[in-house]
Amino acid sequence: MDSITLGIVGCGAIGSDVAMAADDMEEIGKIYLYDIETEKADKLSRKLEKGIAGNFISLLKSADIIFEAASQEAVRQYAEKIIDEEKDLIIMSIGSLLDESLLKRLRMKAKEKRCKIYLPSGAVCGIDGIKAAGVDVVNEVTLVTTKSPASLGKKLEKRTILFDGIARDAVKEFPKNINVAACLSLAGIGFDKTKVKIVADPVVKYNSHKILAHGKFGRLRAEVENLPNPGNLKSSYLASLSAIATLKRAINPIQIGA
Ligand SMILES: NC(=O)c1ccc[n+]([C@@H]2O[C@H](COP(=O)([O-])OP(=O)(O)OC[C@H]3O[C@@H](n4cnc5c(N)ncnc54)[C@H](O)[C@@H]3O)[C@@H](O)[C@H]2O)c1
Repeated sequence: MDSITLGIVGCGAIGSDVAMAADDMEEIGKIYLYDIETEKADKLSRKLEKGIAGNFISLLKSADIIFEAASQEAVRQYAEKIIDEEKDLIIMSIGSLLDESLLKRLRMKAKEKRCKIYLPSGAVCGIDGIKAAGVDVVNEVTLVTTKSPASLGKKLEKRTILFDGIARDAVKEFPKNINVAACLSLAGIGFDKTKVKIVADPVVKYNSHKILAHGKFGRLRAEVENLPNPGNLKSSYLASLSAIATLKRAINPIQIGA
C-alpha cells in the first residue's frame, strides 16, 4: 500500500500533538507542516522523523489529507483551495462554519470533488449519540459549559449562569466556546435550536461540557471534565486526542461509531 502524506496547517498545541502522533503511524509516510509563524513549523519538523516544513502551496500539492489546527481565518483562507485540489480536510476551527455561505460552498465542492471534510468532536463527548438520534426527531439539545469564573474573565463567589440562549448567540458572546457549540449544532439540530448555558462556578477547577438531549430515541446525557493541554493551557487535551482519533478514522478501513 502507498503511504499517505499528511499536511498540517497550524503548528501550535493541537497541530503539534497530531504531528507527533502521525509520526508514529505506519500508514503515514510524510508530514508537511505549515504555520504562519514559520519558525513554529521548522521547530516541529526537527522533532519528527517524517516532518517537512514549508509553505502552504507545497503542502497543498503534496498532501493527500490536510489537517487544519490554525484559526477560523485559516479555514476561510485555505479550505476551498484544499477541496479544489481534491484533498480530504480535517477542520479543528469549526466555529468558522457558523458562516453558512462558507459551509454551503464547502459542502457543494466536497460533493463535486468527492472529498471528505471531517469535523472532530473536539472537547466534548456525546456527538455520536446526537448524530444517530438526529436521524429521527430530536426535540431538544442543550449544551451546559461550566468553567471557573477566572477562565471566563469574571470574579464571582457563587455559581452564576452567564449565558442562557441559543448557540448562534452564545458563539457571538463567548467566542472561546465557539468550537464545541458549533460542532454540537452541526451534528444535531442547528445553531438556532441548540440551547447553550454557560456557567461560571468558583467550585470547579477544570472546564466541563454536558450535553442533554431528548427525542424519539429517548434521552441522552453526556458529560466530560477536561484537563488542559500541556502545550496550551487554554485548550482541552481531549481536543487533541479527538483530532488524532479523527485522523486515524480517516485512514482506517474500519469506521466505528455513528
Ligand atoms: N474543535 C474543538 O473542540 C477545538 C478545541 C480546541 C481548539 N480548537 C481550535 O483549533 C485551532 C488550533 O488550536 P490550538 O490550541 O492548537 O491553538 P494554538 O494557538 O496553540 O496554535 C495555532 C497555530 O496556528 C497558527 N496559525 C494561526 N493562523 C494561521 C494561518 N492563517 N495560517 C497558518 N497558521 C496559522 C499559529 O501561528 C499557531 O502556531 C484554533 O482555531 C482553536 O480555536 C478547536
